[in-house]
Amino acid sequence: MNISKGSHQMQLNGKVAIVTGSGQGLGRSYALALAAAGAKVVVNDVDETQAKQVAAEIADAGGTAVAEPVAVGTSEAAQQLVSRAVDEFGRLDVMVTNAGILRDKVLWNMSDDDFDAVIHVHLRGTFTCAREAMKHFREAGEGGRLVLAGSPAGQRGNFGQTNYAAAKAGIAAMARTWAMECAKAGVTVNAVVPNAATVMTETIPFLAPYVEAMKAGEPIPSVVRRAASFGPPEDVAGLVVFLASEASGHITGQCIGIGGDRISLWSHPTEIRSAFLDGGWSADAIAEAFDSSVGESLETYGIPLPKIPTTQREGA
Ligand SMILES: NC(=O)c1ccc[n+]([C@@H]2O[C@H](COP(=O)([O-])OP(=O)(O)OC[C@H]3O[C@@H](n4cnc5c(N)ncnc54)[C@H](O)[C@@H]3O)[C@@H](O)[C@H]2O)c1
Repeated sequence: MNISKGSHQMQLNGKVAIVTGSGQGLGRSYALALAAAGAKVVVNDVDETQAKQVAAEIADAGGTAVAEPVAVGTSEAAQQLVSRAVDEFGRLDVMVTNAGILRDKVLWNMSDDDFDAVIHVHLRGTFTCAREAMKHFREAGEGGRLVLAGSPAGQRGNFGQTNYAAAKAGIAAMARTWAMECAKAGVTVNAVVPNAATVMTETIPFLAPYVEAMKAGEPIPSVVRRAASFGPPEDVAGLVVFLASEASGHITGQCIGIGGDRISLWSHPTEIRSAFLDGGWSADAIAEAFDSSVGESLETYGIPLPKIPTTQREGA
């Protein structure tokens, strides 16, 4: 489908947003885009220098931002972020829980520390920051926006990412749960499922050549932007601005994919087939009937590699 880029500038004037992990990568692009749309932004990162740099970049571009460096994951960090927004700017409208780390290993090599570190930042970081924001939204009574960070790994599973896939699947599950719980307060909850060239993705072998080319100032070919849904972080930021805005008030509980030239809607898990046996299913009955009933529809898993034609057709 071909759609115009949109003629009117989305406005977030008067809104206040927190973006966790916004010292670089996707978070940085979200903070810059939210500020460019008029929001005042609390730039959080565990890396103080980077958080301050992004806040300064926003100020240089005529926007308003403060840096609040802290490692998200604890309740105290979440309280610190919401307090900073309210103390500095008098309100909070949008919480973007973007901070993340990777500790990839196959199951049998993954240590307790590898597992806990990733769960702590992604799952607990999302939970604690969203909870603190929601407490504020309920008190203020003016609605709000929770924008979470999902991942294709959480939707499909991914080799070597036990901890990360579990955290991201948990975040998608929290988005669905919180969409129900937060609706009455006028708060929407959605997960962005991004794809972009960042420090996190530059080591993926299949994407590495495109990241290198991009760093050298070359554009990512159109066919890659479509088939692999892959481009710079700025391609993802429009979705975060949209989800932060009044225009998306009717959208909640969704996982929305974006990257390069593509936006997509992810399905939620649902029962796809069922069979019945009076009195219930014994192991023997299942063994007899499985392959010819529900087992005829076994699901695929893992992230499929995109098919990119070797000859890259411009505009394809
Ligand atoms: N890049 C992609 O294609 C992609 C794909 C799927 C999901 N994501 C998700 O998007 C988010 C951003 O990813 P990215 O690619 O920009 O990664 P990145 O590594 O470039 O940036 C992550 C940022 O989070 C910060 N951070 C790490 N731990 C933190 C903590 N405890 N508290 C505060 N800040 C912390 C880092 O310092 C860094 O600045 C992550 O949640 C990631 O899982 C990214």
